[in-house]
Amino acid sequence: PNPDFTTDINMLVNADVKKNQSYPVVDYAMIDDMKEMNAYCRCWRSKKFPLCDGRHLWWNNRTGDNVGPVFIKERHL
Ligand code: FES
Repeated sequence: PNPDFTTDINMLVNADVKKNQSYPVVDYAMIDDMKEMNAYCRCWRSKKFPLCDGRHLWWNNRTGDNVGPVFIKERHL
């Protein structure tokens, strides 16, 4: 574990995504723009937020958490 990391209960979930906004961060994805399948970040550590870039692995290794992305895929009927 990173010695600089704190598990203090007051730690922010969102460490650095759109922190200059005064209102809650929301993102939209248009279904028409989706590829076959997209992975969306739920750990708030992705540098490509709202898409997952794999940094949840870094987060989980340091915190013992087990977060991962949500996969959204188009249904083919
Ligand atoms: Fe956040 Fe993958 S980077 S869930």
